[in-house]
Amino acid sequence: MTAPNIPGQPHIAYQGNNLCMEGVKLSDVAAQMGTPVFAYSKASMLSALAAYQRGFEGRKVQICYAMKANSNLAVLQIFAKAGCGFDIVSAGELARVLAAGGEPSKIIFSGVGKTRAEMKQALELGIGCFNVESEAELEVLNEVALSLGKKAPVSLRVNPNVDPKTHPYISTGLKGNKFGVAHESALQTYQRAAQLLGLAVVGIDCHIGSQITEATPYLDAMDRVLDLVADIEAAGIPIHHIDFGGGLGIDYNGDTPPAADQLWKQLFAKLDSRGYGQRQFMIEPGRSLVGNAGVCLSEVVFMKPGEQKNFCIIDAAMNDLPRPAMYQAFHQILPVTPRAGEGTLVDVVGPVCESGDWIGRDRTLNVQAGDTLAVLSAGAYCMSMSSNYNTRGRAAEVLIDGTEVHVIRDRETVAQTFVGEHLVKA
Ligand code: LLP
Repeated sequence: MTAPNIPGQPHIAYQGNNLCMEGVKLSDVAAQMGTPVFAYSKASMLSALAAYQRGFEGRKVQICYAMKANSNLAVLQIFAKAGCGFDIVSAGELARVLAAGGEPSKIIFSGVGKTRAEMKQALELGIGCFNVESEAELEVLNEVALSLGKKAPVSLRVNPNVDPKTHPYISTGLKGNKFGVAHESALQTYQRAAQLLGLAVVGIDCHIGSQITEATPYLDAMDRVLDLVADIEAAGIPIHHIDFGGGLGIDYNGDTPPAADQLWKQLFAKLDSRGYGQRQFMIEPGRSLVGNAGVCLSEVVFMKPGEQKNFCIIDAAMNDLPRPAMYQAFHQILPVTPRAGEGTLVDVVGPVCESGDWIGRDRTLNVQAGDTLAVLSAGAYCMSMSSNYNTRGRAAEVLIDGTEVHVIRDRETVAQTFVGEHLVKA
């Protein structure tokens, strides 16, 4: 049987009866590595990056990969080699960038709760920019920089109050969100920043949310940010770079986000019309670079028919793939070697002791215990959000490059899950 190929996934396709990533049969990966295992296509990541690069030809743009989407060292290495910087949110992420060979000067540090220790470390390394999210942070960063005899390069993250039309948990640019400085008080906060001797104002930043599938929220946010740039510069504070954050969505289930180059064509048309087209820009894409490059392979443990529902119980769970439980997210699920014949309606669930531990609901699948399933679009916010809940070791990860399979993370052993815990002396 030959199953149809998969829209939106140029590097994952059925060849005959085998689901392949680039030149590798995913059934071979599962057999060699065991399950659950994540497999990522290098070509897919590079082609997603190329779409942005096409949109930026003739412009000054630094792409800073938002590594929270997938922070495996080998993934970071690919983006560092391709010239990317990194958007980080913790000292842990900073350490990963260094371990993967990223350049400190191309790092931007986002997040609402940077600690003094994190600020100090980042300042000592000479990162490119702190995206500051509040007045309180501004004051503390100034103190830390002065104590080190340094000037911290800063952008203020402004909250443009634009609705990105996405899931409420991943919408960040509305007034009620914890992120950024309110549009209305941004000028005043810039004036304060400009007075502080430990700070050097270098830019402005905004990020309105994630899995955005329309261009309009970006265009609206850009207008709001450019209005502010005009006001801030009129007040005598030069803005050297404009950072538009990340957020571009991917196709999980027939979603139709604009292609990165098309989106940026529209955004540059606006920037040109307002006279800002030749500025230095930064962007912080995460999901759109890695999301559709990854799959999670998992084995069917049991089929459990029921009166109301049939369950297909697999060996991956909400600790490996938290997005369905957290955001009711949809991931396509495909058999790695499809069987001939009709499927039945099943809920695909994991073994974790929670009713929220589902991976896909009401899917038509023709599978039996022992079969391998591929959960698609699992390259972003899956492994990086995984946990040890139910004392499950984290999955292994491989990187596929043509016909080569590189192990980029060993499966976590159970013993590793309790390293650092102590019994109390009797
Ligand atoms: N920049 C900042 C400041 C961010 O907070 C984020 C994501 C990004 C860039 C990258 O956004 P992206 O291009 O990946 O959309 N766990 C959720 C997504 C959380 C996004 C958090 N911030 C999910 O699985 O849908």
